[in-house]
Amino acid sequence: AVAAAVVPAAGRGERLGPGAPKALRELGGVPLLVHAVRALARSRAVGLVVVAAPADGVSEVVGLLDSHGLDGKDVRVVAGGATRQESVRLGLAAIPPDVEIVLVHDAARPLVPVEVVDAVAAAVRAGAEAVVPAVPLADTVKRVEPNRGGPEPVLDTPDRSTLRAVQTPQGFRRETLAEVHEKALTEEAAGGLPPVTDDAGLVERFGGRVVVVPGHEEAFKVTRPLDLVLAEAVLARRRA
Ligand code: C5P
Repeated sequence: AVAAAVVPAAGRGERLGPGAPKALRELGGVPLLVHAVRALARSRAVGLVVVAAPADGVSEVVGLLDSHGLDGKDVRVVAGGATRQESVRLGLAAIPPDVEIVLVHDAARPLVPVEVVDAVAAAVRAGAEAVVPAVPLADTVKRVEPNRGGPEPVLDTPDRSTLRAVQTPQGFRRETLAEVHEKALTEEAAGGLPPVTDDAGLVERFGGRVVVVPGHEEAFKVTRPLDLVLAEAVLARRRA
């Protein structure tokens, strides 16, 4: 079964500093979004890519994707939403009903190796309902009582060997992903849910099983200015 991928790309990316929406910032002269779509399109497991663009940038994004060759893959663009979750839901709605496997990949992870895309899709095909690529943590992590700018009391230190930093693409049985997004919408309307920062988090919230497969250090998220410096270096090394 061929998978479809949703790329939420409607974020402003304020932590990256002022400028264009994050997905349209350039890396090696090419927008992050184009890198991300190419990385997905390179996988034989992926037949369709749906991009959720900033609502006021749909035609600009269509033009951008048209001007960069994308291996003849089917790429569609829809208007994204006010939150990442809404952007994913809108992208998912544009996928033909017969597609059974859906990957969700952040536009902000432009350099994900094709092996990671393949491995996530393969794990769903092999029977998992939700799959996330992840890597061990380099830093020790502490849970604190948040106190912006001031000293923060430490609550505890989770055992680092049991922690993973999760990446994308995350892979799902389509039915599972659609169902948890539907439930989240209903609960939200009923009066607020703590925010979820990834799609697998929604599956967990509603009692589904999520498994981790190995991610890759080059699948890091471009969030802050330093991440762009690192991404440029990785790209230059690949081109060398
Ligand atoms: O802000 P953050 O880095 O967590 O965003 C992750 C991804 O979600 C980015 O690719 C961003 O473009 C996307 N996003 C979106 N719609 C929003 C907010 C974020 O598609 N309203």
